Amino acid sequence: MNILAFESSCDETAVAVVRSGRTVLSDAIASQADMHALYGGVVPEIASRKHIEAIAPLADRALAEAGLTREDIDAVAVTYAPGLIGAVLVGVNFAKSVAYALGVPLIPVHHVRGHIAANYITHPDLEPPFLCLCVSGGTTAIVDVADYTTMEVLGSTRDDAAGECFDKVARVLGIGYPGGAPMDRLSQGGDDSKYPFPAVHVHDAPLDMSFSGLKTAAINLIHNAAQKGEELDLPALAASFSRAVSEMLVPRTMEAARLRGRRKIAVAGGVAANSRLRGDLERACAREGKKLYLPELSLCGDNGAMIGSQGYYEYLSGARAGTDLNAWANRDIGRG
Ligand code: KG4
Repeated sequence: MNILAFESSCDETAVAVVRSGRTVLSDAIASQADMHALYGGVVPEIASRKHIEAIAPLADRALAEAGLTREDIDAVAVTYAPGLIGAVLVGVNFAKSVAYALGVPLIPVHHVRGHIAANYITHPDLEPPFLCLCVSGGTTAIVDVADYTTMEVLGSTRDDAAGECFDKVARVLGIGYPGGAPMDRLSQGGDDSKYPFPAVHVHDAPLDMSFSGLKTAAINLIHNAAQKGEELDLPALAASFSRAVSEMLVPRTMEAARLRGRRKIAVAGGVAANSRLRGDLERACAREGKKLYLPELSLCGDNGAMIGSQGYYEYLSGARAGTDLNAWANRDIGRG
């Protein structure tokens, strides 16, 4: 079954063709990151306009790269939530038109479910149930994946997402946008105990997380040093910050896996590319006898292939949308 999949929830327009959930025939992406870098963050109105410009030629490219024609497409999948509402709407409306014109089913896909499905592409042997740590620029959640379309959030951030914190600290340091990858590079070889950051616990919700205090502590440290004319050890700052983020995420993920009796742990989303997080999870899983699944780096960020993969399983479970499909800025992953 060939699914043409659309993703436009943030600053990447992406169109892919995926066969039967696991085989990626093409994965075309047009990133707007350079444009938003001028402003230090995503400008929603610009994002929507750029999606409109990119999506039609990208769909043609995805088909051509897959070596298929429109008649070979069996269904259309699209991210319908969560994301920047104007941006999501572009993909939803385009996908609706394509499904209608081709006379094939339209399948709505939750963006974070898509991130989780990136693991099905990297690991053909991975099947639910498993526990998944979802960490991106907009989401930080520990999700129990009972089966392909039955999911429950066990813990989540009460404020900022982990990726957003990397981006904001990197912006203050002036090292680039999006800031996660530059922070990761800067942290290599840095002393991770030089700038200790406070550990945060959410009262009565041991699996919930909070990143805004961590972000503020890092930004205050940078501003205070600048005001006093002190030079910071930047690799050590990046390493200490990455350690604090990882220490928020890893113990809670392991605890959730213990609570649910899950032996498999997966990671999803842009921050899944973080080297400190990947290393800490590898060590924790080895210690506790869990099997760890990490998506390949190219599938950590937003892409269409992950939407095509999850779209297949949503299709099998009966999910269909009509031309009245709406886009949502927020939507519980458990509702699909
Ligand atoms: O999944 P994604 O592409 O978009 C959303 O769905 O949000 O995630 C983007 C986020 C950004 O905040 C980016 O800075 C972060 O992932 N990121 C990283 C790394 N690579 C990307 N954060 C930490 N370390 C990295 N190596």
